[in-house]
Amino acid sequence: MPMKKLVIFTGAGISAESGIKTFRDSDGLWENYKIEDVATIDAWHKNMSLVQEFYNQRRKTVLAAKPNKAHYALVELESKFKTTIITQNIDDLHERAGSKNVIHLHGQITKSCSSINKNEIFPIKGWELKMGELAPDGSQLRPFIVWFGEDVPLMDKAIIETYLADIFVVIGTSLQVYPAANLLYKLNKNCKIYAIDPHLEEGILPEGSTLIKKKATVGVDVLIEKLLK
Ligand code: OAD
Repeated sequence: MPMKKLVIFTGAGISAESGIKTFRDSDGLWENYKIEDVATIDAWHKNMSLVQEFYNQRRKTVLAAKPNKAHYALVELESKFKTTIITQNIDDLHERAGSKNVIHLHGQITKSCSSINKNEIFPIKGWELKMGELAPDGSQLRPFIVWFGEDVPLMDKAIIETYLADIFVVIGTSLQVYPAANLLYKLNKNCKIYAIDPHLEEGILPEGSTLIKKKATVGVDVLIEKLLK
């Protein structure tokens, strides 16, 4: 029998137990910062130093964090299913855990890009990207992040993966941000849907979905038991 196709759609919640704050939980990042000050393309044009510093701090946290049991559990599933991870996270914890096939819808904090051509991408050494560090085209290097107000270039690829899924698993996302959250409407009708999240309400998921209302590190055990049954 050919391997089934498993697509896992992750958000900030999967990295919460690694010590990286989510956005919309109480004490989440968006309680202490305004999206329009630090995470929009207009914010970058208005105050580059502030935005750069915000992401430098995020990078520091990510570099100090380690993958948790949930990230590692998804790697194990690769031997049983043809697995793709579509993540909204900008951290690299899926890769550091060993996942091979990861689509970063909202960019990657460990990389920079030219501010006039986002296809010119460079690794960042250490936590700090400084003002005055320039791309070869002479523009200021910026964090390789998809900000509000920008296109999501990998969305088409994510939609195709999603449509082909036999099993779709949502982990740790509030499903509030579009177009990413549209993936739930791109599933084929035979796809089996699971979600792991301690706070998500069932009503936000398509009918027939199985919600495992637990933290990611605990919920993955329940998920694996269900998938391998
Ligand atoms: P949110 O902060 O909106 O949602 C986090 C979700 O994780 C919530 O549903 C929580 O219930 C859940 N959660 C919290 N702790 C958890 C745990 N230990 N295990 C599992 N789930 C847990 O984060 P996202 O949905 O990822 O984009 O946010 C989407 C996008 O909004 C981000 O990629 C970012 C943000 O603005 C940009 O900045 C472009």
